Amino acid sequence: MTTLVPLIAVLVISAVERGSREEDSEKAKKSKTALDVHVPEVPVVALYGQDVTLHCTFNASSPVNLSELSVYWELADTKRSIHSFSAGRDQLTEQADTFANRTSLFNAQLGSGNASLLLRNVRIADDGVFSCFVSLGTFGSGALVLQVAAPYTKPQVTLAPDLNLRPGDEVSLTCVAYGGFPQAQVQWQDGMGRNMTDNVTTSQVASEEGLFNVRSVLRVVLEPNSTYSCRLHNPLLGEEGHASVTITGQNTTFPAVALWVTVGLAICLLGLLIALAVVCRRKIKESCEEAAAGEACAENGLRVVQSE
Ligand SMILES: *[C@@H]1O[C@H](CO)[C@@H](O)[C@H](O)[C@H]1NC(C)=O
Ligand SMILES: *[C@@H]1O[C@H](CO)[C@@H](O)[C@H](O)[C@H]1NC(C)=O
Ligand SMILES: *[C@@H]1O[C@H](CO)[C@@H](O)[C@H](O)[C@H]1NC(C)=O
Ligand SMILES: *[C@@H]1O[C@H](CO)[C@@H](O)[C@H](O)[C@H]1NC(C)=O
Ligand SMILES: *[C@@H]1O[C@H](CO)[C@@H](O)[C@H](O)[C@H]1NC(C)=O
Ligand SMILES: *[C@@H]1O[C@H](CO)[C@@H](O)[C@H](O)[C@H]1NC(C)=O
Ligand SMILES: *[C@@H]1O[C@H](CO)[C@@H](O)[C@H](O)[C@H]1NC(C)=O
Repeated sequence: MTTLVPLIAVLVISAVERGSREEDSEKAKKSKTALDVHVPEVPVVALYGQDVTLHCTFNASSPVNLSELSVYWELADTKRSIHSFSAGRDQLTEQADTFANRTSLFNAQLGSGNASLLLRNVRIADDGVFSCFVSLGTFGSGALVLQVAAPYTKPQVTLAPDLNLRPGDEVSLTCVAYGGFPQAQVQWQDGMGRNMTDNVTTSQVASEEGLFNVRSVLRVVLEPNSTYSCRLHNPLLGEEGHASVTITGQNTTFPAVALWVTVGLAICLLGLLIALAVVCRRKIKESCEEAAAGEACAENGLRVVQSE
């Protein structure tokens, strides 16, 4: 065991050294490009359907002559044009269709070194790496990561079957939530807050707009007085909500609905029997009256019926 410790220490040191060397080489690269362009280093999280400003600034040697400035935003992977500005105005003939009418620069601030892009009505497809190029005699660029997030609807849990439940029955609990992004993490917990991972099936289906609908099914054998809750976690937005069902009662308890159905049926049956009895009695009386021996009939109807 003890021999391992120095080895781990060496590994850690070499990892740290490698990291700082990478930083050094990046700094060297930057100093070669004369124009200093700054973009956020951490991913920018934008909400689906909302507007977002993608920050990009450069060190302007004031005053900037806008006729000499070019700003060019493009998608890092496909090189598709998002927005461009040169010769003192926007140049949008090359702009990708998906960005039409959704972009603008802050023209009043371009001269002071602000090449930030306003992107309106963010879509799921906007998720990706955006590059900002600035040319002002010299040239510089930066790339930022845009992550699109959409909150899910509040999760809902349903139970099947939901009638005549007794402890020992196997039921399926279904948890659904809609219209979120990116894919959610669904976690089932019992009443004690313990994670339940067995017998869980979760599916996430993308809609046309790229938003996910989540459906998670938990199959359990019911225990009395048990609670099952479904927790939904969005990796970008954190905990989004939870829903739970609680099954109360013991082996002997009769579910309320079943009880009322039974009572109702019993009352109906009783009514039917009474009606039948009344009709029978009348029939018997009629046949008695027809018969000649009226006296005997009045005393005991049964005997008459049997005699027929
Ligand atoms: C560029 O401007 C930033 C602040 O806006 C400053 O921190 C940085 O040192 C400047 N770089 C150069 C090369 O002037
Ligand atoms: C800005 O640049 C253009 C083109 O290089 C030049 O014609 C113009 O005179 C410049 N304007 C100023 C105020 O320097
Ligand atoms: C952009 O806006 C113009 C004018 O408002 C409109 O004619 C055009 O159809 C729009 N383009 C898109 C792709 O929405
Ligand atoms: C650039 O302009 C945007 C939009 O007005 C603003 O939010 C941002 O703070 C500006 N950046 C700097 C460094 O001034
Ligand atoms: C349950 O699982 C989640 C995510 O998988 C985890 O963050 C949490 O700590 C777990 N809780 C317990 C009580 O194990
Ligand atoms: C998972 O399902 C099987 C078969 O229905 C059952 O035997 C088992 O107890 C279930 N596991 C849990 C943790 O409920
Ligand atoms: C379930 O809860 C009821 C009332 O809260 C209680 O009377 C019963 O003993 C509980 N049953 C079990 C098995 O814990």
